[in-house]
Amino acid sequence: MPGTVRCEWFKLFLEPSALRDDVVDPRLPKLPLGKKAVDLIVDFLTCLWDYARERITQEIGIVADLNAADVWLTVPAAWDAKGCQLMRDAAIQAGLVGAAFAGDREWRDRLHIITEPEAAAVHCAHLTNLHQLRPSQNFMICDAGGGTVDLAVYKIIGSLQNLEIAEVCARSGSNCGSLFLDLRFRELVRTLLADHPVHLEPASLAYFMHAFSETDKLAYLGESDDGNMFHFTCFNVEDPDDPAVGLINGELAIPGNLLRREVFDPVIEQVLNLIEGQTRRVDQRIDALLLVGGFSGSEYLFKRVDETLGSRIKVIARPSDADTATCRGAAQYGLARRPLVSSIIAPKSYIMRVKLPAEPEDWQRRPAYITENNAGVHICENRLQYLVSKGAILRKGQRIRTKFCKFSSTPQDRMFVAVLYTSDSDKLMRYTDEGETYELCKWTVDLATLPSFQQHANNPQPGGFYTDFELGLELDSAEVRGVLLYNGYECGRVTFDFLV
Ligand SMILES: Nc1ncnc2c1ncn2[C@@H]1O[C@H](COP(=O)(O)OP(=O)(O)OP(=O)(O)O)[C@@H](O)[C@H]1O
Ligand SMILES: [Mg+2]
Repeated sequence: MPGTVRCEWFKLFLEPSALRDDVVDPRLPKLPLGKKAVDLIVDFLTCLWDYARERITQEIGIVADLNAADVWLTVPAAWDAKGCQLMRDAAIQAGLVGAAFAGDREWRDRLHIITEPEAAAVHCAHLTNLHQLRPSQNFMICDAGGGTVDLAVYKIIGSLQNLEIAEVCARSGSNCGSLFLDLRFRELVRTLLADHPVHLEPASLAYFMHAFSETDKLAYLGESDDGNMFHFTCFNVEDPDDPAVGLINGELAIPGNLLRREVFDPVIEQVLNLIEGQTRRVDQRIDALLLVGGFSGSEYLFKRVDETLGSRIKVIARPSDADTATCRGAAQYGLARRPLVSSIIAPKSYIMRVKLPAEPEDWQRRPAYITENNAGVHICENRLQYLVSKGAILRKGQRIRTKFCKFSSTPQDRMFVAVLYTSDSDKLMRYTDEGETYELCKWTVDLATLPSFQQHANNPQPGGFYTDFELGLELDSAEVRGVLLYNGYECGRVTFDFLV
C-alpha cells in the first residue's frame, strides 16, 4: 500500500545479545526510521489483540469480558529478564490487559509471561507419559521456529500419577530458524542470476523467495530430492533464457542437491550443533528429545536429528500439533490449577560467608579460624552457610529463608553487609578454603528500617544488642532475587544475577 512500510522479524531485536551489544543479524531488515523494535511490537500486538478479541467473541458467541481475562504471552527461552520486561511493557502499552473495574489496581498482574519451551513442555507432557519416561529422567525440548531455535531441558520429578517437571536451568537459543532457509535461498538465486539483473529486482527476488518459502521448502525431503529439479517461475517476463544457469523459458530450475548444500545443510547443521552443544553443557543423560515449532515439520530436519542423535537419545519424537505446541501449552498452563512446570533445579550453590559460634569440629579442624569476641564467645570465622545447594529442586519463586543476626555495639552500627557467593561444586563445604566460591554480589542492608532495631536503638543498652532478621533468596527461570525480611515481611528487594 502506498505510504506504508513492510516490517518483519522485528521480534529478534529483543534477544539478549541484540539488547546488550546493540548488534543484530545484519541480514535482518532495518527498522523504519524513528521506530524502535518495541514500537513495532506494540503496533503488532495491538493488531493481534484486536483480531484475537474478535475471534474469541465469535468462537464463544457472547461478548466476553476480556478486560478481566488473564493473558499469557510467550517469549523465547534465551531471553533474559530485560527482554521479557520490554515485551511486557509493549504488551501493556498495546492494551492486552487493562483496568476492568474502578479501583482495579492489580490489572497489570493479569499479564503473564511464560517461556516458549516451558509452554511447549506442557503440551508435550502426554508424550513423556507415552514414552514411559520415569521420574528423574530428563527430556529436551527443541522449539524450531521461524526465527529462532530454542532448547531447554527438563527433569521429570514426582510420581507418574502426579507428573511434574522441573527446569534444568541451562538454556540456549540461536537464530537458525526456518527463515534462514529463505534468506539462504535468496542468496542462492542472487548468485545464480548474477548476470540477469532484471530478475534480481526486489519484487522479483521476493517472488522467488515466497514460492520457495510457501511451497518447495515445506515439502522438501532431503537426500531423496537430490536428483530432482525445483522450478521457480520468474516474476519478470524479460530475459527468459540462459540454460547455463538454469534459466529456461521464464523459469529458474535449481537441482535438489544444490538446494541441499547451499540452503538446507548449513542451517540444519547449525541446529544439530546447537543440540549437541546443549547436550554437552547439561552434562546429564538426555532420555528424550521432543521437537516442536513450525520448522520441526521439516522431514529433512527431523531425519537429520534422528540420524545424528538417535544412537544417544532413546526417544526422538514430535507431538501432534507440533507447530502450535507453544500456544496450546501456554493455554493449558494458564487454565491448570496446579502448574506443571513449577520447579527449577538450582544450577549452582548460593552461599554466605559467615561467622558462627565455634563447634568442636571447628576446634579440631580449623583452630586458627577461632577468635574470641567482646562478649567472650568463641567465634569461628570463614564458615559457609548454604542458602541453596546445587541440584536442589525449588518451587519457582519459592523463597529460601535464612536467619541472620547482627550484633550492634551502638545504634549507629546499623549496616549489615551480606556477600553472596556461588559455587559449582557438588560437595557441601564447611569452610571458605575448601573449594572455589565466586562472589555474586555484595548487598548492604540498612537494618534501621527494622522495628526491632529501632526499639533497641531507642533504649540503648551498654552491652550493645542483637537484631534478628531473615534474608530470602528466590530463583526462577530468568533470574535470582534477594529480599530482606522481617517477621515474614519484605523490607527490601534486589535483583542481582541473571542466569543466562
Ligand atoms: N515443513 C517445513 N519445513 C521448513 N520450515 C517450515 C515447515 N513448516 C513450517 N515451517 C516454517 O516454520 C516457521 C513457523 O514456525 P513457528 O510458528 O514455530 O515459528 P515462530 O514461533 O513464529 O518463530 P520463532 O519461534 O522464531 O519466533 C515458518 O518460518 C515456516 O516457514
Ligand atoms: Mg516460536
